[in-house]
Amino acid sequence: MKVAFALNGRTATWSGPPLTRLATALREDLGLTGTKVGCDAGDCGACTVLLDGRQVCACLIAMGQVEGVRIETVEGLCTEGLGALQRSFLAHGAAQCGICTPGMLMAATELLQRSATPSRADVEDALGGVLCRCTGYGKIIDAVMAVADCPAMEPLAPGAAVGARLPRVDGTAKVAGRDVFGADGIPADALWVRVVRSPHARASFTLGDLAPLRRRLALVLTAADVPFNGFGIYPDIKDQPVLADGQVRYRGEAVVALVGERDVVRAIRDEEVPITWQPEPPLFGIAAATAADAPLVQPDKPRNLLLEGGVRRGDVSEGFEACAAVAEGLFETAFVEHAYIEPEAGWARRVGDRLELHVTTQTPYMNRDEVANVMRLRPEAVRIVPTACGGGFGGKLDLSLHPLLALAAWTLDRTVACVYTRPESMAASTKRHPARVAAKFGCDAAGKVLAADVTATFDTGAYASWGPTVANRVPVHAMGPYAVPHVRTWGAAYFTNGPPAGAFRGFGVPQVAIAHEAMMDELADKLGIDRLEFRHRNALRAGNTTATGQVLAHSVGLQQCLDAVRPHWRKAHADIAAFNAGATVNRRGVGIACMWYGIGNTSMPNPSRMHVGLSPGGTLALYNGAVDIGQGSNTILTQIAADAVGLPVSQFTLVAGDTDLTFDAGKTSASRQTFVSGMAAERAGRDLRRQILRLANAGPDATLALEGGRLAVRDGNEVRTIELASVGALIGEGVFDPPTTPLDADGQGVPYATYAFAVQMAIVEVDVELGTVKVLRIVAAHDVGKAINPTLVEGQIQGGIAQGLGMALMEEYLPGRTENLHDYLIPTIGDMPELECLLIEDREPLGPSGAKGVGEPGLVPTAPAILGAVHHATGVRAHRVPLLPHRLRQAIRAKSA
Ligand code: FES
Ligand code: FES
Repeated sequence: MKVAFALNGRTATWSGPPLTRLATALREDLGLTGTKVGCDAGDCGACTVLLDGRQVCACLIAMGQVEGVRIETVEGLCTEGLGALQRSFLAHGAAQCGICTPGMLMAATELLQRSATPSRADVEDALGGVLCRCTGYGKIIDAVMAVADCPAMEPLAPGAAVGARLPRVDGTAKVAGRDVFGADGIPADALWVRVVRSPHARASFTLGDLAPLRRRLALVLTAADVPFNGFGIYPDIKDQPVLADGQVRYRGEAVVALVGERDVVRAIRDEEVPITWQPEPPLFGIAAATAADAPLVQPDKPRNLLLEGGVRRGDVSEGFEACAAVAEGLFETAFVEHAYIEPEAGWARRVGDRLELHVTTQTPYMNRDEVANVMRLRPEAVRIVPTACGGGFGGKLDLSLHPLLALAAWTLDRTVACVYTRPESMAASTKRHPARVAAKFGCDAAGKVLAADVTATFDTGAYASWGPTVANRVPVHAMGPYAVPHVRTWGAAYFTNGPPAGAFRGFGVPQVAIAHEAMMDELADKLGIDRLEFRHRNALRAGNTTATGQVLAHSVGLQQCLDAVRPHWRKAHADIAAFNAGATVNRRGVGIACMWYGIGNTSMPNPSRMHVGLSPGGTLALYNGAVDIGQGSNTILTQIAADAVGLPVSQFTLVAGDTDLTFDAGKTSASRQTFVSGMAAERAGRDLRRQILRLANAGPDATLALEGGRLAVRDGNEVRTIELASVGALIGEGVFDPPTTPLDADGQGVPYATYAFAVQMAIVEVDVELGTVKVLRIVAAHDVGKAINPTLVEGQIQGGIAQGLGMALMEEYLPGRTENLHDYLIPTIGDMPELECLLIEDREPLGPSGAKGVGEPGLVPTAPAILGAVHHATGVRAHRVPLLPHRLRQAIRAKSA
């Protein structure tokens, strides 16, 4: 079929099958990859375009429907540079990873054509069909509402970058729809990999005759083809096969890979692949995994135990004996899906005796080493070139399609590509660990917590992934950010036939925070002490010793956070008392929660290496191996490096992520890039500046001005000019590895060099008949050491809050039942409350300009604050999250029965 239509103001023609999706035609045939595909099912809105001026999901429009219509895509917004809406998105920090941004922009464009000055409700209504997993929507709403008077961006003077609300240095491509994500830059001649996955959670299987399939395809890969068929995060745990070998341990596990022309691999149905299954009863949940007669998920892991360990300080029995009040509780959480809007995607090719992978990732160097290990190549034989990453949140730290791309490209010496479907992404990828946390806390009559005893067990699913990290991190954090003299905490992770549980924003700390904050509420209530003041009394402060024996010398801003929230807390109580006095069905409540979070790896080396180069031609570049997955590290690190050198951000170019061009900056995880890579960037900048000053024989206060190949160095009244061509390239290097020590058998040591602290307050309204909870307002006070870029810091906090809200109230991944964004609900723009961020800057001397990290802390206190508010409103304490309406309704009824 041939159709003609108007595309971004020009006539376009297209021919092909009429049922071809508009999104597919735009991206694959018409070269407009600004329109993104997050689900191909009408659930995410990433593909939103305008059809005759109205927003539609391009994945739901068949090309047979577009004859004679007018289609507008994000590319059409850039007629003469960026449009006003795009500039407003940039100025307000409304694009983080940017994968949802084109859809958001198109939905907002439709609104703005109707109303130049929309209300917040208008924006929520118009953008309600587009999901964003990064921002919490607050900055997007601000950007749309302020489009009429978007502030002009003033150039910054040298030395003024740190602390400035600078737009993202990589933002223009994101708002223009030009950023190249994993599925956007695939060469036209690529063959495609499609993975056949297990429909069973536990089964043995045999493969039949694959010859007929091999005749239709370029390659059919099985376990027998993988040089080393095991991968995993830890050097000594490579327990996950690239392709299952006779046995599957979770639903969604990869079994066979088909490689061929795209249409051919797509057309082959799973049933055509000769696999004979012998399903076995799966082990689901911690109780099943720890039962005395439980079969083993992995034969060499007795008791299905992956790892256990804990922290002991003082004597908890003695501590509890001295207590005037004791609280106890058992809390359970679910598998939570990352739901990044960009599914796993990328491509690979063989270049001589090397492999080159262009993939969406959070950790290029770890990918490189893992792929090399699977392929039995030297690490240097693998190059990882990260594409733009459409959200990760920990889920793109593990290998996914990488080894299959590598193996197919290597074997065929052809370019190969793979893009997961949404259900495949959700079935195959790692999840947040479900937890069962038993907590007991006690305090004296004055409200001083004396003892904490916490046992946290985690369902790590079929393979280890980041289970050891969770099991190690949780005992350190399980007593909360409080000075407690008698502590016993224990963490253990068990294998089950659930999906592998891995890294997800917080590494188990959000789960355990639900328990310790419930305990703080209950102790405060028992003693009749205000919940905020009770926390204030116990909050860690500088000079305190933690349960691991670490003396916190500085940057412990928890009490400042509580002080900042106090006026909001008092007002909320007064307002809620007035509201509830006349309430019947809807009751309001306010909750508060504290958190702490160790920045970086737990008691492990954690280095980052950065370079700042000045070429003979005058190009100033930051060579930055840290991947920006939306959190803003490209911008933050450039701001830090710019001030360290003494030249403006606008003169920097960025070389990011590529393992051939940058050094290892470590993973983008554990909230570490600002603190660790930021310090490395600061040192690299200072190193370059030192070299420049030495060349000019200038003092430390000299100012620099770069113009082409000339560098002017002004020292007092004297100006010296360096002709860069005559001195050659200058390279500044910076390395930082935060000082930590291993933990001993009792968990004593220095697990982290610094900690972030925060307090969040949530106001909720509960429909006590339906059990629904609407979060009305959250005030978030975060001690970030120093906000290098307050806009980006707020964006991280707001995005974390959205994920925390989802974890508290709606998100539960059930294999086989919620493998799409229709059945698995994440917060939409309409679910988000009014948000207020209060940035506390208690300077961390070890960090760049005093900064710490904020990626994960934004999420940790949200769920406990919401659950505390629900308790305040209803008297019901949630012991299982998500607190779905039927669970809350049941608990309210049970309480009033
Ligand atoms: S890709 Fe069309 S709605 Fe998700
Ligand atoms: S910025 Fe919206 S999904 Fe990442």
